[in-house]
Amino acid sequence: MREKDRLRNFESPATVCTIIMKTDIGIIGGGPGGYVCAIRAAQLGFKVALIEETALGGTCLNRGCIPTKALYSATKLLGKAAEAEQIGLAFSPPQIDLQRLTAWKGQVVSTLVGGIETLLEKNDVEVFRARGQLAGDGRIALSSGEELTVETIVLATGSDAVQIPPFPFDHPTIWSSDDALKLPEIPKRLAVIGGGVIGLELATIYNRLGSQVVVVELLPEILSTVDLDRRTISTLKRALTKNGITVLTQTAAESFEQNGNDVALQTENGEEHIVDRILVAVGRRPRTRDLGLESCGVELDERGFVRVDKTLQTTAPNIYAIGDVVPGPMLAHKASKDGIQVAETLAGQSHAIDYDLIPQAIFTDPEIASVGLSESKAKAAGGEILVGRFPFAALGKALGMRETDGFFQVVANADDHRILGVQIIGADASDLISEAAIAVQSNLTLEAIADAVHPHPTLPEGLKEAAENALGRGIHTASR
Ligand code: NAI
Repeated sequence: MREKDRLRNFESPATVCTIIMKTDIGIIGGGPGGYVCAIRAAQLGFKVALIEETALGGTCLNRGCIPTKALYSATKLLGKAAEAEQIGLAFSPPQIDLQRLTAWKGQVVSTLVGGIETLLEKNDVEVFRARGQLAGDGRIALSSGEELTVETIVLATGSDAVQIPPFPFDHPTIWSSDDALKLPEIPKRLAVIGGGVIGLELATIYNRLGSQVVVVELLPEILSTVDLDRRTISTLKRALTKNGITVLTQTAAESFEQNGNDVALQTENGEEHIVDRILVAVGRRPRTRDLGLESCGVELDERGFVRVDKTLQTTAPNIYAIGDVVPGPMLAHKASKDGIQVAETLAGQSHAIDYDLIPQAIFTDPEIASVGLSESKAKAAGGEILVGRFPFAALGKALGMRETDGFFQVVANADDHRILGVQIIGADASDLISEAAIAVQSNLTLEAIADAVHPHPTLPEGLKEAAENALGRGIHTASR
């Protein structure tokens, strides 16, 4: 941390005098939306102040994507070790040292946080370690007692986990996703309320660590907030079951009762599940409280998100909002894209974001990744489409990796063969989707993927094969 950051990291507001600083852009929130916006704006010549009350990197880096992925990769090894005997490699049963695992995860996070600090410093972004609040007339009041005067304000305050009244996060039995990622223990039996992205990612990690996991989902289907085809969901459900995770749909978690060490989770349809801990992952809500929004004319929509126009400007002039506080997918890479867009708009380089082009990756076992339209959405749009698929089981590389679950799916316009969307469920889907993201963003055709030579043997061959399959000329598929 730089000296000036340290000086501003005041313990008590009462001990400091107000210093008025004047700067071009003041960004409230140092997550993947805010810090990326800060760096891009600084690159474009603006003088930038970034205000962050806790660690830089936000939820994604400190309590979300990064710790989850560290644990995802660590726990994947457990499954691999357990299966290794089947291919002639014997290991003794793995021992889990929770303290070391937690420390390693912490190291991954702190390395990245340190990297952001360095990048901000190198770009001359001033970091204020305080809570920021809009104070009207282009002013931001800091909890440290200072006040900044800025030309433009960017709100990048992110989101918080939704709490449901019968399951308060301050009860020792109830975990939020933040609690679960601290890895306090490996419960023998874990109930996960919410079959959304966070619920299923954490169910996957704790299942691999040895917990018996039951997922309780209110709606008829899991992952219903993501645009995925039925075939993708049913492939995932089969894999979850194979891995020993119980998934209950159309089941609303209603209450719980602690009986000694046992916790009885009661559902609306009268079922009771005896577990040790309950993880609640029922969504996230934008963090807009105590920001002084009303006093500046920043309006919220009916769902509590900051209302913005196409340029991400709020209803107040010179106040923009990005990331989880505005409508759209709650994803780190979307927040970063928003941040870049605002910085470039302020520099006169406007170009609107097409949220349909934002890819999503879900770290279940197997992984799911998607970009663009699902088959069902493309069909609903009315035009004629071509669909091609290719199974992981037919890829030499996947077979050698013992990762044969899942498939690639490409959806394209029937007339001009333009690729509309791709879904991949299978090993490393999160890495494989980027080729598809370029294809969809650049309006590439099936031929562009099918005709490009892909090295053999690799997993991306699956996308090429799916494109060939859609064109009716798949070499390794019998028919369309
Ligand atoms: P979510 O909205 O994806 O899923 C929450 C689920 O909880 C819904 O399916 C809902 O029907 C269910 N639910 C609500 N009340 C319930 C009850 N009483 N009993 C049973 N089920 C109930 O929210 P989630 O998983 O918390 O994620 C929040 C946001 O973070 C999402 O927008 C997600 O896309 C994003 N995220 C994305 C990641 C990724 O792309 N890898 C990783 C982490 C978060």
